[in-house]
Amino acid sequence: MPQLIDVLVGDFEQAVLTGLAQPQKVIPARFFYDRRGSELFEQITQLPEYYPTRTETALLRAHGEDIARYTGTGRTVVEFGSGSSAKTPLLLSAVRANTYVPIDISGPFLADAAAGLAKAYPNLKVLPIAGDFTQPLRLPDAIAADALLGFFPGSTIGNFAPRQAIDLLRSFAATLGEDARLVIGIDLRKNPRLIETAYDDAGGVTAAFNLNLLHRINNELDGDVPIELFEHRAVWQDALGRIEMHLAASRDLSFEVAGRRFAMKAGETIHTENSYKYRPEEARLLARASGWEPMAAWCDADALFSLHVWQAQGRKLEP
Ligand code: AVJ
Repeated sequence: MPQLIDVLVGDFEQAVLTGLAQPQKVIPARFFYDRRGSELFEQITQLPEYYPTRTETALLRAHGEDIARYTGTGRTVVEFGSGSSAKTPLLLSAVRANTYVPIDISGPFLADAAAGLAKAYPNLKVLPIAGDFTQPLRLPDAIAADALLGFFPGSTIGNFAPRQAIDLLRSFAATLGEDARLVIGIDLRKNPRLIETAYDDAGGVTAAFNLNLLHRINNELDGDVPIELFEHRAVWQDALGRIEMHLAASRDLSFEVAGRRFAMKAGETIHTENSYKYRPEEARLLARASGWEPMAAWCDADALFSLHVWQAQGRKLEP
């Protein structure tokens, strides 16, 4: 998952001040992931209501050999937004990777995860890169000659609007090179009630994750946001194919952030996240529109979540 802390703190103030000045107030979802936010996200992945993590993990477990049939073995694995790298060993062992390059914006999380993997797999070469995978990046010279396999699990792609998702996947193709493969997890469209429950669990963990943004504002941007007057909302937008998270003001209120005053009416919201869901054929179209060719895909028996292997389109001529 995209983890975010120190690197973008400067950017946080600018994003919050700009976002709160919009007619529909908005804060980009990448700011969820300070240390507390990253911990809360790890808790979300364990919730009974949050089906994506366990479903994707089961798919990786069940289809490791199938995946290897399409990727071959011995490729160097490059993971975009590696977070805790919890699912990574399943892929690394399935495709017999010798080298693993985790890319994550959260330095501490990255270091822990890299150390953990290096310890569990003494023969694995781990070359972590601390950085933002949405920015153009250069892979280490040490893997310049390797055949590469990108790994982008968790349906992190869902946080990007389709237009941005295509740009991002195209940049992955450019980074990974002509002969690359990509293993990507994409959450599927399904009964909206199931999705809304996954983003509004009974234990209130997702609410705490969302509200943590307001704590960040108060702590880091000298804010006095009355957090107890905000409520977590998860709303399915059918025409857009996405679940939205919002922080809703329970009554008229105002607060200051970095010396600037903002007012909200009762019921007015701050939009904090989009999570797009795709039909299987939409997921394949996403590939073809972004420099990739779908090779294979699997989903669970309830069609909750999908796992895909894509091949870089490369530069071969087509009729
Ligand atoms: C990490 C972006 C995949 O969209 O499901 C979980 C984040 N937000 N619960 C998702 C999230 C609310 C998650 N991603």
